[in-house]
Amino acid sequence: MTESLADFLSRTPQDDGVYQLSAPRPFQHDEAQYELNRPAARKTTEFHREQGANLFALFRRHGLPPNAPILEIGCGSGAMSTSLATQPGAGHLLFTDPSPAFCRITQGNLEQHGSFDARVDFGILRAEDVDILPPGSVHLIFLRSVLHHILDVDDFLLRCSRVLPPGGLLVCEEPYYEGYMMMGFLGQFIADALASAGDQCTPEELHHIDYFIATMQYYARRDLDKSEAEDKHLFQPDQLFVSGRAVGLDLSHYPNWHVTVSEEKNLANRIGYFQKFFDSYLRNCMHWPPDLVDRVAVATGKYFRFFDPLESPDNTVPYCFGTFVFTKRR
Ligand SMILES: C[S@@+](CC[C@H](N)C(=O)[O-])C[C@H]1O[C@@H](n2cnc3c(N)ncnc32)[C@H](O)[C@@H]1O
Repeated sequence: MTESLADFLSRTPQDDGVYQLSAPRPFQHDEAQYELNRPAARKTTEFHREQGANLFALFRRHGLPPNAPILEIGCGSGAMSTSLATQPGAGHLLFTDPSPAFCRITQGNLEQHGSFDARVDFGILRAEDVDILPPGSVHLIFLRSVLHHILDVDDFLLRCSRVLPPGGLLVCEEPYYEGYMMMGFLGQFIADALASAGDQCTPEELHHIDYFIATMQYYARRDLDKSEAEDKHLFQPDQLFVSGRAVGLDLSHYPNWHVTVSEEKNLANRIGYFQKFFDSYLRNCMHWPPDLVDRVAVATGKYFRFFDPLESPDNTVPYCFGTFVFTKRR
């Protein structure tokens, strides 16, 4: 007989309203600063309702039953948690992170959006300990931008498979290998493209470019010990198919598809998407000066035209990020 999530939590120790499922571990950056950069709290309740409806549309398409218990791993400052909690028909929700500071920030952010129909709990949990939960006790395990932080992904998939019931789901949004590798490859031509337009880079700009190339190559390398690194993996769907199948999880994937966004918006975003992704990555993730990003967009624009005739709603290349849905085999 399956022990319910509620029964399991009733015998789990709490500290300040947070269930202690793993040893706590702070995030590698300051949590309050992370929250300032990604202001989950400053989004309106209406925004979270819409985002939550998009999330649930995907979950339901893959068979999530009404009122099914859901575990979120790596909730961070609660950008997804708040959206999940707003949804009618959400079951028991357990939002977790290894960082107590993140759990507190998420608790605070949820409170700002009023009360919810669903039962909401918080826990300190490392993904590596997920199978501390009883078998069959949650129907969906959800992670956004967390799988690439987990060192042993195959072991994590095995542990999730133990926790999910037949038909249960593991859903995540993560970076793909191919797109990041291609961004690094393209990065090598930026200085020459600018120079051929008569635009010489300053030493500082050359440093930005070299650091970007080295970062993309580091992410793509698999010969290094990344146990102490924050970002450990880029994903290739063919490998995740094999890893999932070995532990009874069948994979569907949605390349270049945000789990938070409606189908119409995802399809519309695909037009000219690789250059847009590249531009936004340099601006928002590598924090390049806006003027340099703008000049690079002009100097490299002609190379991205290669992708124009390849693009259609069914074919969006290269795969840069996307949504993975694993279903536990029945
Ligand atoms: C990039 S943030 C994403 C936060 C949130 N999911 C979102 O979409 O805004 C990564 C989160 O994963 C958590 N994390 C990192 N390693 C983890 C692990 N091994 N197990 C569980 N969570 C982890 C971090 O504490 C952090 O909250």
